[in-house]
Amino acid sequence: MPAGLFLSIEGIDGSGKSTQLELLTARLKREAVPYLLNREPGGSEVGNQIRQILLEPKNPVSPTAELLLYFANRAQNVDEQIRPALGEGKLVISDRYTDSTLAYQGSARNLGQGLVASLHAIACRGTEPTLTIYLRITPELSVKRLGQQKKDRLEAEGRAFHERVFEAYEALAHADSARIVVVDGDRKQTAIAEEIWRIVMDRWKQRD
Ligand SMILES: Nc1ncnc2c1ncn2[C@@H]1O[C@H](COP(=O)(O)OP(=O)(O)OP(=O)(O)O)[C@@H](O)[C@H]1O
Ligand SMILES: [Mg+2]
Repeated sequence: MPAGLFLSIEGIDGSGKSTQLELLTARLKREAVPYLLNREPGGSEVGNQIRQILLEPKNPVSPTAELLLYFANRAQNVDEQIRPALGEGKLVISDRYTDSTLAYQGSARNLGQGLVASLHAIACRGTEPTLTIYLRITPELSVKRLGQQKKDRLEAEGRAFHERVFEAYEALAHADSARIVVVDGDRKQTAIAEEIWRIVMDRWKQRD
């Protein structure tokens, strides 16, 4: 049996990650490609409970508690969901993964990339995406798209916070261009979906 493939999708709030993953998984279903969709926070029974704590606007979660909760969620999903699915040869797709923690908690909350990397090693023990799609939109477009929507605790952060998240994603993509593929998210959904399909299928066919 060929090995699985671990794909993550990243980008600032409202960049279209979840929208694109709906289109991608619908097509994977039609083409009978075995996949597992993981979302963060959430993605498992325990993960969904952690998600509620993290996203509830009324919760006074401290920055360090927030960081640890994201990694608790990720450790659970790596053990319970991601590793077994990769072992079964599936295409595992994660709606956000450690790049999000590097961008939001490491950079925007100023907790530091080194600390995030140390916790990543503990929580994920080498389970890394081989391909990451970075859906790039500007913070201005994010504000426009999410303008009227009810915001979760992190989305409700101010403009400067979201600018820092954007800059962090730009730096990550620049530093690891072998893994992170930048996709322009400011286009029609169908055009973006087509490009993502091509990128993912290229890698899927090359897996060992
Ligand atoms: N290509 C696009 N053009 C215009 N609007 C879009 C596009 N893709 C998604 N949207 C809209 O933008 C909003 C945010 O999309 P979506 O929820 O998929 O983003 P997300 O990256 O998953 O956000 P979050 O980080 O908050 O989970 C939705 O209202 C969606 O319908
Ligand atoms: Mg989403």
